[in-house]
Amino acid sequence: MDTLTIRRPDDWHLHLRDGAMLRTVAPLSAGFGRALVMPNLVPPVTTGAMAAAYRERIRAAGFARPLMTLYLTEETDPADVVRAHADGTIAAVKLYPAGATTNSASGVRDWDRIRPVVDAMEEHGVPLCLHGEVTDPEVDIFDRELRFLDTRLAPLRDMHPGLRITLEHITTADAVSWVLDHGVGATITVQHLMADRNDMLAVGLRPHHYCLPVLKRRRHRDALRHAATSGAKNFFLGTDSAPHPQHAKEAACCAAGCFTAPHALAAYAQVFDEEGALGKLEGFASLHGPAHYRLEPNADTVTLRRGEPLELPAHHGGDPRVVPFDPGHPIRWHVDA
Ligand code: DOR
Ligand code: ZN
Repeated sequence: MDTLTIRRPDDWHLHLRDGAMLRTVAPLSAGFGRALVMPNLVPPVTTGAMAAAYRERIRAAGFARPLMTLYLTEETDPADVVRAHADGTIAAVKLYPAGATTNSASGVRDWDRIRPVVDAMEEHGVPLCLHGEVTDPEVDIFDRELRFLDTRLAPLRDMHPGLRITLEHITTADAVSWVLDHGVGATITVQHLMADRNDMLAVGLRPHHYCLPVLKRRRHRDALRHAATSGAKNFFLGTDSAPHPQHAKEAACCAAGCFTAPHALAAYAQVFDEEGALGKLEGFASLHGPAHYRLEPNADTVTLRRGEPLELPAHHGGDPRVVPFDPGHPIRWHVDA
């Protein structure tokens, strides 16, 4: 199969930032229809009014169909969340454990304090997206997702059995099993399908491979590839494309995030091709996500073609410059304009 036409995919986890970075990256999500946009700005997008204003800035910058999220804090007003979801301003709420990742300082420390807002979300069907890592400095960075499943997610699920949950950017075989056992949704990034921690650390240190949750060992990458290409409806496409200026990545203390938006769709197609599963790409990229969020799939289509290896630019943008994630092996698929 050298060409593939599928319903237009959506990106269920995207960082677009604000200001000059927003203007650089907003036009670059090649091939995607809608995108669920993360709220970890400075200051974070914590109210329905802030989400509505941010949505307009995104559209003005060149991304036409953003779906908005609210950043959950211990002060979040349940009534504002319910109202913003009911009137279509937001599609979901994002929970960052405080300190887990970029701009997560306003996130959740004391999980008892978010009980009322999560109760309201459960009652009104508002989806919750989770950054699934514990932040205890005593817990090894490679174990933080696994520990989250046991100590945070399992109790949350028990307390709120009707809550609509997306476990974001899963990175381990353990998370794959948990998602299937509990019937929740999960996004998978393309860097976690294409690379493992050796790719990041074994031949020098590659800052553009560094993201959170951090890349894991090969057997986890392979479990994610199996999950994504299995056809299970729990798993869907979320790039977590997270642009940082080149100087913040190529630094003594490197910022977390891989910038994949422009070539992510081609790269997912490459992975599905390598797995002999191109027939499952449409479900993962275009159907399971809308079903999870109770939206219609896109009506239009996109065509992918196999050809010469994609040539990635050294960087996108001028000020700021953003370096794309290069998996280090050929991406032979191209998205028709
Ligand atoms: O690598 C990451 N970058 N992981 C996240 O969870 C946040 C993101 C960012 O905003 O830079
Ligand atoms: Zn993210």
